[in-house]
Amino acid sequence: MIFSSFEISSEQKINVQIENHIKEGIEKGILQKGDKLPSTREISKVLNVSRNCVIIAYENLENLGIIKSLRGKGTFVSTEANTIDGDLTISWSHMVNDYGNSCRDLDIIKTELPWKRGMISFKSIAPDESLFDIEEFKRSFLNIFSTEGDKLLNYGYAKGYKPLIEYIKKYMEDKGINVDQKDVLITNGFTEGFDILLSTLTKRGDIIACEEPTHNTAIKIMKSHGLNIASVPMNFDGIDIDLLEKTLKEKSPKVLYLIPSYHNPTGIVMRGEKRQKVYKLCERYKVPILEDGFNEELLYSSSHVAPIASLCVKGNGVIYVGSFSKVLFPGLRIGWILADKNLIDTLESVKRARTIHSSFLDQAILYNYMESGAFTRYMKKIRKHYRDKYNFTLQQVKMYIPYEYIWGEGGLHIFIKLEGVSGREVLKSCYNKGVVFMPGDIFYNEDNGSDTIRIGFSRVTKEDIEKGIKIIGDVVKELSYKI
Ligand SMILES: Cc1ncc(COP(=O)(O)O)c(C=O)c1O
Repeated sequence: MIFSSFEISSEQKINVQIENHIKEGIEKGILQKGDKLPSTREISKVLNVSRNCVIIAYENLENLGIIKSLRGKGTFVSTEANTIDGDLTISWSHMVNDYGNSCRDLDIIKTELPWKRGMISFKSIAPDESLFDIEEFKRSFLNIFSTEGDKLLNYGYAKGYKPLIEYIKKYMEDKGINVDQKDVLITNGFTEGFDILLSTLTKRGDIIACEEPTHNTAIKIMKSHGLNIASVPMNFDGIDIDLLEKTLKEKSPKVLYLIPSYHNPTGIVMRGEKRQKVYKLCERYKVPILEDGFNEELLYSSSHVAPIASLCVKGNGVIYVGSFSKVLFPGLRIGWILADKNLIDTLESVKRARTIHSSFLDQAILYNYMESGAFTRYMKKIRKHYRDKYNFTLQQVKMYIPYEYIWGEGGLHIFIKLEGVSGREVLKSCYNKGVVFMPGDIFYNEDNGSDTIRIGFSRVTKEDIEKGIKIIGDVVKELSYKI
């Protein structure tokens, strides 16, 4: 009998041990297809275990199609041992295409110095999770789940959860944007929105213009799409207008990608007058604008500045991509594209072809949370929190780090131009002293920015900010003497 020499151990559930023993018997050929198995009563007696455990083991094996019970006849093995020692070996590195290779090569997370426990990390610009309104969010989850849970767990619509779309449209209208001939597509954050837009509007070899420096993920996506990046340098008030005009005129880019509020990495807020100048140039040269509004809600250093999209009152040439990743919860992966109705119609099909839709449950909870007024209360709280933290970090930077200049006026980060000292060299020394940050060159398309660094302060305590900035300052001083 297959169980005669079997010993029960105390380290695993008994039913699991019985299941594994039968599976092993089949693998080793001791049990063949069609063999009759002992009854559950017999096994429980031989092993001195409850019959219920054996019944559960048999039920699980039957659900897997490994055994079959026939009423009045007994239980039989219904599968054969795997006799093939397969060796289908593929050289995957030769199969990976240009897209895969470029995504891998540009994936800086894989080449960064690894974070170690206890380090002070200024790398991230993710929100501080200790500020999250967990109770309010839980309430929204329970509200929405009790009323629409069944529907939300089924397939939804590619464009997104209707009430959230309507909410966002109204929200964008309140920012001064004419939404009459526009529509909204819900995406998995800015990143998917940007990727969908580039996949739909550009082809390999096209030129795309953007600020230099710019968001590293955007550089990665543009490059992985085989686009040629026309980088336009920034001044202290944003993109250089003369160089932008030269680029639009001479290179006729397919699109101009811009981050007007708390730009990443510089923290610059493009003022209203400059936004108008940029818009007018694009109108003159007929270049569509892709406006990344990821940090717009956060604006704590000044009054609200209307998005560039609000200037395009009668036209359809500005695409606005929004995200809740910085102002709310990046883990939800919810963002949106506001654009011309017909374009959204096409983007909706692209979204459906790729991922069907973003999670309806997440969208519905978020809608409930925003609609309840919790979002507005939360924004008030975090604006004050990040303003105080920014001012504190800035004060520490000014006190301890020798710099040529500091860009911008806020956000969740501070971008520093050092005096000829390599950001990577500073990082290497700081790493050994337990402090990490982003070297500024990752935000440049060309080989620039080697003497810049980005300090993300959002998730670092004030105590660690002071400690970490002092260490960076000491390293910068030490390396400056060697120049
Ligand atoms: C410029 C910029 N846009 C958008 C985002 C947000 O991206 P996502 O919504 O995919 O999280 C970030 C995040 O760091 C960013 O820096």
